[in-house]
Amino acid sequence: MRTNRKFFKRSKFLPIDKFFSNVLYDKKSGYYSSKIPFGREGDYITAPNISTLYSEIIAIWIISTWEIFGKPKSFNIVELGPGDGGLMRVILEVSKKFPEFNKSKKIYLYEKNKNLIKKQKNILNGNKIKWIQNFKRIKKGPIIFFGNEFFDAIPIKQFKKVKKNVSEKYYSLKKDFSVQEVFRNATPNDMKLVNSFKTLKKLKFIEFPKLGFKILKEIVSRVLSSNGCILLVDYGYENSRNQNTLQSVIKHKRNNLFDNLGKADITSQVNFSLLSEFFKKNNLKVKKTITQREFLKSMGIMERASIIAKKMKFSEQSNLYFRLRRLLNPKSMGTLFKVILAYKNDNSDKYYGFK
Ligand SMILES: C[S@@+](CC[C@H](N)C(=O)[O-])C[C@H]1O[C@@H](n2cnc3c(N)ncnc32)[C@H](O)[C@@H]1O
Repeated sequence: MRTNRKFFKRSKFLPIDKFFSNVLYDKKSGYYSSKIPFGREGDYITAPNISTLYSEIIAIWIISTWEIFGKPKSFNIVELGPGDGGLMRVILEVSKKFPEFNKSKKIYLYEKNKNLIKKQKNILNGNKIKWIQNFKRIKKGPIIFFGNEFFDAIPIKQFKKVKKNVSEKYYSLKKDFSVQEVFRNATPNDMKLVNSFKTLKKLKFIEFPKLGFKILKEIVSRVLSSNGCILLVDYGYENSRNQNTLQSVIKHKRNNLFDNLGKADITSQVNFSLLSEFFKKNNLKVKKTITQREFLKSMGIMERASIIAKKMKFSEQSNLYFRLRRLLNPKSMGTLFKVILAYKNDNSDKYYGFK
């Protein structure tokens, strides 16, 4: 329990997003600073770790969007939260097969974790890439932002609402170093903010990604300043509900939220209706949210699998289709993960994968 104390950093109580930011991203003892969490050896597996087919589809989506944008000579591509760099490695490989696109692309990786930046630099060695922590460093011109499991890794706030009165959840550190939940009046600004979203109107318990929206606001204003779009794939839901979705995972198993702090990954589910409302409020158009399964299938993942399977031995084919099923399974990843596209309407309403 003593470990709880270090994440409070001398405060007696903290709003929960601040507390979990310390737990996940503290430079010394934060989760992401002390280990590489991905893959079988780590705590969780993401879609790019499961199959390169997933990353190839994202690559093809990016290249087809560049075509929709009129094949601009200089084109910015920003990956949000690139993790171990595996997705970008495949995107760069696929790009080589499209020389005109390959020449025009400018790649940026938005990553705040030094440990992961080192890993990304290693795996992407030899490629022209800029690592950024500030979107102002990106060149002018058309742009695609995309992220896989970026938004669910950003700590959220939780609120309780009685009529229009909003209170915020804090954690306080007790004398025995255990953690207690307390609710305090939300700041007038937060109260106004939470009450301004139609999606949240009927809820009594609210999850609100204030930090995530702060980052997205900068991204949206960058998209509006030239032309572009934002593609996010995340774990989440569409029907807003009174639910605490915070979860902790260690070695691929659920873990009590306050056990193994700094050693377990903590995420929350993304509210896609809220995300969609946020983009619209900020003057972007938004496609109807679709499931990962719908997106991958309409982008031709089955056809791609059957082409590469032809050159494979039987055991390799079984492995390929086993992994493909994991990505598409309607009872798990295929539907729990969703895809949202927000865009400025300068070129067309037609984007591949979406209706
Ligand atoms: C759950 S991981 C996903 C990694 C990778 N996209 C994948 O699918 O395997 C979240 C990633 O977002 C990064 N991240 C989280 N919050 C961030 C922030 N505020 N700024 C930049 N990167 C952040 C993490 O360091 C990590 O690389």
